[in-house]
Amino acid sequence: MTRPLIIAIDGPAASGKGTLAKRIAAHYGLRYLDTGTLYRAVARDVLAANGDLRDAVAATAVARNLDPDTLDDPFLRDRGVGEAASIVARIPEVRDTILQYQRDFAATPPGAVIDGRDIGTIVCPDASAKLFVTATLQERARRRYHELRAKTFDVTRDQVEGEIRNRDRRDLEREVAPLAQAEDAVLLETTDLDIEAAFQAALLAIEGLLER
Ligand code: CDP
Repeated sequence: MTRPLIIAIDGPAASGKGTLAKRIAAHYGLRYLDTGTLYRAVARDVLAANGDLRDAVAATAVARNLDPDTLDDPFLRDRGVGEAASIVARIPEVRDTILQYQRDFAATPPGAVIDGRDIGTIVCPDASAKLFVTATLQERARRRYHELRAKTFDVTRDQVEGEIRNRDRRDLEREVAPLAQAEDAVLLETTDLDIEAAFQAALLAIEGLLER
């Protein structure tokens, strides 16, 4: 049996990984998993039960009962949910619970494009190709601000920038599976690239990695 093709895409908040990953998945005919959605869904379900986001026992129980059919809930993209997700994402037992789901998804033929923070380092260290997508804080804040405003959220650019800075700090500094570029990942700096240019640069990098 041919090995599933796994493309790991990591990077900080609002770096454009999701948009890129979806296009790459379509290009190669692969399935796509946005792992941030899993942490966002755990946070949503903890809050819905009036639980405490820092309560490891409660959050882990919620993670074990996560219903994959609820992952397309538009509420998961709400502003506060990303922040809440980065709080539950620090809990090792929550990460362990979600780990197998992600690995099973990746291993299912024909393979997958998976985006997150720890895909190249922890979830799929043997991925066929790894990218680390980034952009300056100001550019990421600008992109997320426009995304939120399109949904008519009442928010300022400064608020968005502050929230992204907080979340980056939490993701970089946590003890388990922090946001990190895998040693064998290609860095894609997208500050000056539009979506099409970033997509072309990503394809070029992936083709180079697959040829090795
Ligand atoms: O879309 P955006 O970049 O804003 O965030 P996301 O990818 O939906 O992730 C939301 C939060 O989930 C992140 O800030 C991380 O704290 C957490 N996360 C994680 O810890 N590990 C992953 N593989 C993916 C997300």
